Amino acid sequence: MVHTMRLNIVHPGADKLRYEIREIADVARRVAEAGIPVVWENIGDPVCRGEVPPAWIKKIVVNAVKEDAVFAYSPTKGLDETRAYIARERNLEGGIRITPDDILFFNGLGDGISHLYRNLNPRARILGPDPAYPTHSSAEAAHADKPHITYKLDPENEWKPDLADMEKKIREHKEIAGILIVNPDNPTGFVYPQKTIRAIVALAKKYKLFIISDEIYSNLAYKGSGMKKLASVIDSVPGIAMRGISKEFPWPGARCGWIEFYNRDKDANFDKYARSIVDSKTLEVCSTTLPQRVLPKVMGDKRYYPYLAKRTRNYKRRADYAHKVLSKISGVIIHKPHGAFYMTCVFKKGVLNKNQTLPIKSSLKKYIESCLTNAPPDKRFVYYLLASTGVCVVPLSSGFNSRLHGFRFLLLEPNDAKFEKTITTIARAISDYLSS
Ligand SMILES: Cc1ncc(COP(=O)(O)O)c(C=O)c1O
Repeated sequence: MVHTMRLNIVHPGADKLRYEIREIADVARRVAEAGIPVVWENIGDPVCRGEVPPAWIKKIVVNAVKEDAVFAYSPTKGLDETRAYIARERNLEGGIRITPDDILFFNGLGDGISHLYRNLNPRARILGPDPAYPTHSSAEAAHADKPHITYKLDPENEWKPDLADMEKKIREHKEIAGILIVNPDNPTGFVYPQKTIRAIVALAKKYKLFIISDEIYSNLAYKGSGMKKLASVIDSVPGIAMRGISKEFPWPGARCGWIEFYNRDKDANFDKYARSIVDSKTLEVCSTTLPQRVLPKVMGDKRYYPYLAKRTRNYKRRADYAHKVLSKISGVIIHKPHGAFYMTCVFKKGVLNKNQTLPIKSSLKKYIESCLTNAPPDKRFVYYLLASTGVCVVPLSSGFNSRLHGFRFLLLEPNDAKFEKTITTIARAISDYLSS
């Protein structure tokens, strides 16, 4: 018997929630079932991609598990000693000073992002980058039940944000209340020069906005990148910085991230908004205790920063290789990242069309074409690449809410020979596709 709801129970913003990074995995599973081994270049999970968390970090976790207290709830905002450690480290870096009270833990930064937008007035909008990390852009669009408003990151200018476009959007959309930056950026690997963050802070000051800076990759900025946090230039502007351990330790399965409020005392409305986020976390009691318990021990260990430096050297070396190979293709734009473990390849205007293909198994042809009805042209390339070679990357347009056509791939494969094979496979596939 059919049951028909007497009311529509679906939230109006529901169809704004998209996460192609994971959705493409269903297609990849079908490709694997057809006998093509899949190279997972879609999800930025270092552990899943073969990076082994160091034994000394595991030992700290094992020792922490022996304490009964890690099985208990923690205070809503997070463990006192962990917040004290983070506040101390922040203050040592210079820039704005914070107290442990300005810190709020979440079950992963994804949870933090969702709390931020959920508690924002539906009429207040956050201006975000294009390409966008989809957890931000989807949550922002769903909170307002309107398409996410973006400023351009410019691939013709090494992914620098187009500040004129940013100001134009702020002027045009009076509903914009805040600006989001992701620094270092996912998916481009761009690191905001301090001068640029300062210019964004000046815009926030001029138009009375607040700033959100997602800094989950801040400790994975490469040597010489000039990485500076929002805290270094925020001055008197209300702001929120976001951090986490998913990518750093790396321990994404711990679900542990936190936000830092800056200048709550400078604006009563911002202070009330911050309080509403804390209140909504209170309703959930608290975030996971164990990763908070180990955080000061891991980050305070003398092996921690040398370990991160070694990882970023590896990402940089792989990025250099990928850049060398892919920059030889005339139809694409590619830049070296300066942080994180992603790289984005953009197709130049006009090089893609609806008829390009790659050879794929006849058993997959119908299925792949059925997935591509009305699909943007970069998604078409990505699905053909997957079905033809098994390499699973994420399209820019549908995966990162972008006006651009291209795709993101990872710098995580620890085996150099395998990494190089993936890159040369992608390069050959692009050339074959563009000339098909
Ligand atoms: C820019 C950015 N912010 C936030 C997150 C969410 O991280 P988590 O929920 O694992 O803390 C990610 C994950 O990929 C990310 O790339």
